[in-house]
Amino acid sequence: MLRVGYPDTLSSDLLREFPEGIEAIPVSGKMDRDVEIDVWIPDPYASRAMRAWPRLRGVKLVISMLAGTEWIPPLVGPHVTICNAHGAHNVATAEWTIAAILAMLKYFPLYLDIQRSGVWKRRFEAGAHYAAIAGDARPIYPPVMLEELAGKTVLLVGYGAIGKEIERMLEPFRVNLLRMARTARTEPEVHAVSELDALLPRAEVIVLILPSTAETRWLIDRPQLALMQQGALLVNAARGPVVNTDALVESLNAGRIRAALDVTDPEPLPEGHPLWSCPNLLITPHIAASSPQFAPNALRTAADELCRYINGEPLHNVVQAAI
Ligand SMILES: NC(=O)c1ccc[n+]([C@@H]2O[C@H](COP(=O)([O-])OP(=O)(O)OC[C@H]3O[C@@H](n4cnc5c(N)ncnc54)[C@H](OP(=O)(O)O)[C@@H]3O)[C@@H](O)[C@H]2O)c1
Repeated sequence: MLRVGYPDTLSSDLLREFPEGIEAIPVSGKMDRDVEIDVWIPDPYASRAMRAWPRLRGVKLVISMLAGTEWIPPLVGPHVTICNAHGAHNVATAEWTIAAILAMLKYFPLYLDIQRSGVWKRRFEAGAHYAAIAGDARPIYPPVMLEELAGKTVLLVGYGAIGKEIERMLEPFRVNLLRMARTARTEPEVHAVSELDALLPRAEVIVLILPSTAETRWLIDRPQLALMQQGALLVNAARGPVVNTDALVESLNAGRIRAALDVTDPEPLPEGHPLWSCPNLLITPHIAASSPQFAPNALRTAADELCRYINGEPLHNVVQAAI
């Protein structure tokens, strides 16, 4: 029997797709004794998983329910193999990205504010909003009340499972797409990260969808923000540390760019943090993948990986191989 520890907060119904030959063992951060397991599916909330880890013995494989696993290697060390939930959250995260782009281009944050005030004629504030974003105060008639996505250039910074899903969902919007990943390739054309600075001035919408690593820390820093077009929209669906927060706050407060963030650095974003009050900014508190399908999708991915593990086949989603 392969002993698989899973968060005791999950319904055991969700484990029904696990293969034969598994003993599923509920694990919590409140355990008062050590537990021997072979495979650990950690709680997706890092703080809960961190409380459980000291009680676990014998873990050889960690299967995360998340696509981003940056906090797991420092927790479990180098002698454990780690797999992520590659693919499980593509749809939810890509849908959030499309919603965030459209919400910002249709000025939904402004219109929600207007709705709450109950004053119809405040809609004319949209014209001033557009003028500030465009950096051009010349009046336009009839007044601009929102923008179109069609015809805009969208740069995908990261072209993995979720980046490709975002591309698929963007198809009907008739945008010009630029793709960037670690390495360049063709069909479709993907630029290398070394070309980032050359690509940034070409895009009206920049989507960050790549892992948080030492290499991607502050990939978007002051020079990159300065290279973006006046009024460009920066969408961060990846991880907070990919962007230098202080530099982003400066750029937003200067009215240079706008942003939609599902993730921030630090996280949780403390009350009173300068990001909360920046103009032209939409923040959601790291919820992009948290639909009712989160756990079923993640555990289906885990079940597939467990099948391969039991059968001695190569694992698909290894982000750290044990040394
Ligand atoms: N907001 C949320 O709730 C949420 C939900 C899910 C995921 N995420 C984040 O989204 C990230 C991406 O997920 P995914 O499933 O699409 O990952 P993935 O399939 O592994 O793709 C990652 C992409 O990032 C690129 N990349 C990696 N390191 C890079 C570097 N140093 N410079 C430039 N590009 C680099 C990769 O380039 P190559 O193709 O050249 O290897 C690849 O295109 C996750 O790691 C996670 O942090 C966030």
